[in-house]
Amino acid sequence: MTTTSEYKKRILVIDDNPNIHEDFRMILSNDTEAYHVIDQLAAEYFNKDTLYPIEKVPHSYLLDFATQGMEGVEKVKTALEENRPYMLAFVDMRIPPGMNGLETIKRIIHIDPWIQIVLCTAYSDYSFREIRQEIGTTSNLLILKKPFDTCEIEQLVSTLTEKWILSKKSELKEEELNGLIQQRTQKLTQINQTLQLEIAERKRAEKSIKILTQENIRIQEKERQRIACDLHDSVAQDLAALLLKQEFMLNKLKSESPEFMEADVKKSIQIIRATIKNVRNISYNLRPPSLNEFGIVHAMSQHCESFFQDDNINVSFISSDMDHRRFDYTTEINLYRIFQEALTNIKNHAMPKNVVIQFSATPEKSTLSIKDDGAGFNKEKRLQDAIQERRMGLKGIEERVNLINGKFVIHSNPAQGTEIIVSIPNTGYFQNTGIH
Ligand SMILES: Nc1ncnc2c1ncn2[C@@H]1O[C@H](COP(=O)(O)OP(=O)(O)OP(=O)(O)O)[C@@H](O)[C@H]1O
Ligand SMILES: [Mg+2]
Repeated sequence: MTTTSEYKKRILVIDDNPNIHEDFRMILSNDTEAYHVIDQLAAEYFNKDTLYPIEKVPHSYLLDFATQGMEGVEKVKTALEENRPYMLAFVDMRIPPGMNGLETIKRIIHIDPWIQIVLCTAYSDYSFREIRQEIGTTSNLLILKKPFDTCEIEQLVSTLTEKWILSKKSELKEEELNGLIQQRTQKLTQINQTLQLEIAERKRAEKSIKILTQENIRIQEKERQRIACDLHDSVAQDLAALLLKQEFMLNKLKSESPEFMEADVKKSIQIIRATIKNVRNISYNLRPPSLNEFGIVHAMSQHCESFFQDDNINVSFISSDMDHRRFDYTTEINLYRIFQEALTNIKNHAMPKNVVIQFSATPEKSTLSIKDDGAGFNKEKRLQDAIQERRMGLKGIEERVNLINGKFVIHSNPAQGTEIIVSIPNTGYFQNTGIH
């Protein structure tokens, strides 16, 4: 943007009479003689008529001249295009043979609405009202009656160039203000957009917290159901059998001698032992004690052994270089639950011949792979159906993996078995020194 101080005070005089041009030079310059010499030298040197070139005069006005209306209009146009506009134009009313002063002014105003214009006219030319009618209402036009004196011209030039500068300044100020308003509006729009994004993000987070809470509750409920089921199927059944046995023994006591009861007592003892074992299993599964004591690798290998002991499945557990490694409790319990769920799924759905479990580590991550050669399943379809059927095993695995910042992949195809791979960063991991 050009500032007002960068604009030179350019003045254009449009008059067919060269003597008038000379008068303007004399009035607005302190050293006309010197300019004549320069003009003549320039004319000789460039071999052309440079009688009225643009010249810088000591008053810091730059004077330019035209002898015809059209020439003046062209000069205004070019000056504006080159960003060196005229601040003021003196236009004579009579500039034959071309268009007259009024027509010239009309065109100039059309091209440059900022330019200040002084129309120089003899008293008899047009009335003020006629001039106004021709040009229209403008605050940039002044009418100067001939003959005029030096002082009048000097004052007009000084006042009107100053007026031009002031109007330009206020225009620049307005542009600056508009720019500022635009900047602020842009900033506000940006802030608004960021806020909208934050609100959307918060809403999403609130929604997923809600879903997670619901799922958490469902998992807890499922866990309770499983405990209730285990208690009912094992402990309660065993106790009911024990009760029957005791009642039977009581009846026998009344009718038969105690020697005949030995077998029944032995049976009762067996049932009691089985019940104790079942209760231990249930509580072990609720919180496997070996996990705390001996770590994840040991707990997994133990679970593996006992879990498949009655099945005709070939199970291998390979933990290369992992035996002495420990993770924090949250990581270990979640990994253990993932492992339990994967084995339960194999037992319930896969019917495999072989199961291979591998637990290994690189410096960055530890990876658990559980692979069976059983039934397999169509991943896309089955996982979608499983959500509708409210099956929570694999979903629970996914959530637990997220909880410990891990990654989870399932490879499965019908009749081709299934592999579940869980990898976790080694951040919550430490070497077992035997102190823990
Ligand atoms: N190892 C596997 N072999 C074959 N099919 C499997 C295996 N693991 C999972 N599936 C299939 O994926 C489905 C979803 O498993 P998921 O553990 O989520 O549910 P579920 O075991 O059926 O029920 P829940 O775990 O809630 O008691 C299963 O119903 C089963 O069809
Ligand atoms: Mg399951």
